[in-house]
Amino acid sequence: MSVAKKEVKRITTHILQSMKDNGEKISMLTAYDFSTAKILDEAGIDVLLVGDSASNVMAGHETTLPITLDQMIYHASSVIRGITRCLVVVDLPFGSYQGNSRKALSSAIRIMKESGAHTVKMEGGSEIGDSIKRILSAGIPVMGHLGLTPQSIYKFGTYTVRAKEEEEAKKLIEDALHLEELGCYALVLEKIPAKLAKKVAETVKIPVIGIGAGNQVDGQVLVTHDLLGITKDFNPRFLRRYLDLFSEIKGAVKQYIDDVKTVDFPSDKEQY
Ligand code: KIV
Repeated sequence: MSVAKKEVKRITTHILQSMKDNGEKISMLTAYDFSTAKILDEAGIDVLLVGDSASNVMAGHETTLPITLDQMIYHASSVIRGITRCLVVVDLPFGSYQGNSRKALSSAIRIMKESGAHTVKMEGGSEIGDSIKRILSAGIPVMGHLGLTPQSIYKFGTYTVRAKEEEEAKKLIEDALHLEELGCYALVLEKIPAKLAKKVAETVKIPVIGIGAGNQVDGQVLVTHDLLGITKDFNPRFLRRYLDLFSEIKGAVKQYIDDVKTVDFPSDKEQY
């Protein structure tokens, strides 16, 4: 007897475009490991981002700058083994693409070849145009990222809302159009006024996915550790916490410690 394999409709960059065209919102979350990716994929997430926020939430660094290309590839290949349906986007880490389009291409190729991921994401506008162009010329889809771009935190000085002033808002719209023209298949807009994000989403044809950019864009992304309440000291206005896993896990571990100390665990049934 043959068992028919269930066909899984994989999310592609083209499907994301048709979601925008049909007014269906895109759901995106971060993932850095196999087990979490498996849960999020089974839940039906459209896009998983192997974000360089792994530098903060997985490695405990203060910024996203220290994470390396090798570490991103390790996280991405773990995520890829956990999914069957969603699109997997990987951040090109700081120092792997800025100011050198050949290096950018070789970094993107390493991610695609060694992790099996589907696309890459890059922070910045016209200043990284050459790198984006070269990566696209190799057939690697690129997601752009404008607004608050954490890899430039030492240039900004703070993590506050970007593009509140007219000049920066104008540059952001120009950059969005430029990235679209280059051939990026989607854009992330981080921490900018909702009105400006709406304008960008109406101006460009490609999907615009927001984080702290209001609800008039084509989709939303959050860091999974924030949404689940694993991180507890990061409380920006845009964050909705769906669980308090920090407390839940801490409570469970306290119980386990108590059970071990009192020899309640393992019980007769939990041994051979
Ligand atoms: O690295 C990351 O998690 C990101 C999201 C915040 C969009 O870039």
